[in-house]
Amino acid sequence: MNYQAVLEDIVTTLRPFLGADGKVASYIPALACIDPKQLGIALHTCNGEEAAAGDSATPFSIQSLSKVFTLTLAMQRLGDALWERIGREPSGSAFNSLVQLENEQGKPRNPFINAGAIAVADRLVSHVQGKGNRGSAKADILALVSSLCGEPIEFDAEVAASEAATGYRNIALANFMKSFGKLDNDVEAVLDTYFHQCAIRMNCQQLARAAGFLCCDGAHPFEQDSEVTNERQTRRINALMLTCGTYDAAGDVAFNIGLPCKSGVGGGIVAVVPDRLTLAVWSPALDATGNSLLGMKALELFVAKTGLSVF
Ligand code: DON
Repeated sequence: MNYQAVLEDIVTTLRPFLGADGKVASYIPALACIDPKQLGIALHTCNGEEAAAGDSATPFSIQSLSKVFTLTLAMQRLGDALWERIGREPSGSAFNSLVQLENEQGKPRNPFINAGAIAVADRLVSHVQGKGNRGSAKADILALVSSLCGEPIEFDAEVAASEAATGYRNIALANFMKSFGKLDNDVEAVLDTYFHQCAIRMNCQQLARAAGFLCCDGAHPFEQDSEVTNERQTRRINALMLTCGTYDAAGDVAFNIGLPCKSGVGGGIVAVVPDRLTLAVWSPALDATGNSLLGMKALELFVAKTGLSVF
């Protein structure tokens, strides 16, 4: 299939709608000033083919897309012990909801809601302490993402500071879990990790490649004979993306797109076609559920044009 032509066609079709609908996330001040009239799309196939169109080389704040990478790192390090602290059920609630956590004694429903990602960050901080405090969880996260891209990836310090300055709900979620004995480390250290992971800057081309292991049973996107996750772990990450990756829109996304997806409030979405390819799309204006409006449209067009689906 000529993927390059498919991606270019999608960007041409959607370009007239840029800026028409949706709103850029404004609850993090450093994200509020992003120009909504941007659209990028890129893909990486199992055999290493890459294609990209639109603003695919423009870096943006990956936000909750980082939860895929921190989950990957935690699964590599903890194996099944990770699931003692975190569930695998869709939440059916907003990504930053406090109510469910109270009802469920501080155990987050899944690793992709904020509470779950904060619990994953806690596990990563503990792992560093287990090594005698050599390095940091933040450095481990950047090292993983950089190795998957094949180039250095950095945090956006301004976004991280903005997250910390206005992260009242995340601070509440972390303290709530701590009060239930579900975080082992200092709330500040865990949140510092979480706020930084959200502030990673990447573009669509880097994201498609970095998440490329998800479409090929965990194989590293370009290092021969190197495994990021094993086959079972990879299937599980994809299962979680399908059921929990787009928060309370997950049912509609499965219905309309039919691919495991993970979204972030920076407007990025990563989607996986198992055994074929990983796709990254970005357009900053969000719909009411916090997912990129044109990003979702781009994915709908992609599956319509290619016929690809997990179903
Ligand atoms: O925790 C937050 O509020 C953000 N830094 C990340 C949220 C996010 O991307 C949720 N995604 N849709």
